[in-house]
Amino acid sequence: MAEPSSNPLQRPLADGVVPEPVVERTENRWVAVMAAMLGVMMAVIVVTGVSGALHPASNVEVTDPQTLHLAGEFVESNLGTAIEPDGSATVRLIAEQYDFVPDCVVVPAQTPVTFRLTSADVVHGFLLPNTNVNTMVVPGFVAEVRTTFAQPGEYEMPCHEFCGLGHHAMWTRVSVTPREKFADQGPLERTRCEKH
Ligand code: CUA
Repeated sequence: MAEPSSNPLQRPLADGVVPEPVVERTENRWVAVMAAMLGVMMAVIVVTGVSGALHPASNVEVTDPQTLHLAGEFVESNLGTAIEPDGSATVRLIAEQYDFVPDCVVVPAQTPVTFRLTSADVVHGFLLPNTNVNTMVVPGFVAEVRTTFAQPGEYEMPCHEFCGLGHHAMWTRVSVTPREKFADQGPLERTRCEKH
């Protein structure tokens, strides 16, 4: 030990140079910290996914983006909110650069609501803050998300998938009205948002 070695790697370390075992210990600590952070993040994803009922779309439906406006479910007259025979609501929307059509929808509170969306051009995103509604809208496919709004309120709805130069201006609104009030409305008011 006391014998100075001729091997330069075994010479006493100069001041300020950290010995190898200390470096290793420090690195191991940081690996443990990183692993713990990853574990916490995975747990957050799983817990919020389960508690908030966030999950990938359970159905795969295809549609032709070229002929959306000509025939079928997504013709213009069929867009907006429709009430099904069982009392639930179905909302159909088209996402396109740089609008949602229609640009505002009215839905009843405390009622099962099914959103059905598709894209006429590129990938868009549909997100209602503080709900389980969050999906990509991919051309050629129908995105379906089900939810129930407990309270009346207004949801500003941003496109949350970058879709081009106008992405930041691609917004629309979901207006949740009280259940009784919605039932009293005619078909026209149901598909239009009045200014409050
Ligand atoms: Cu549409 Cu971003």
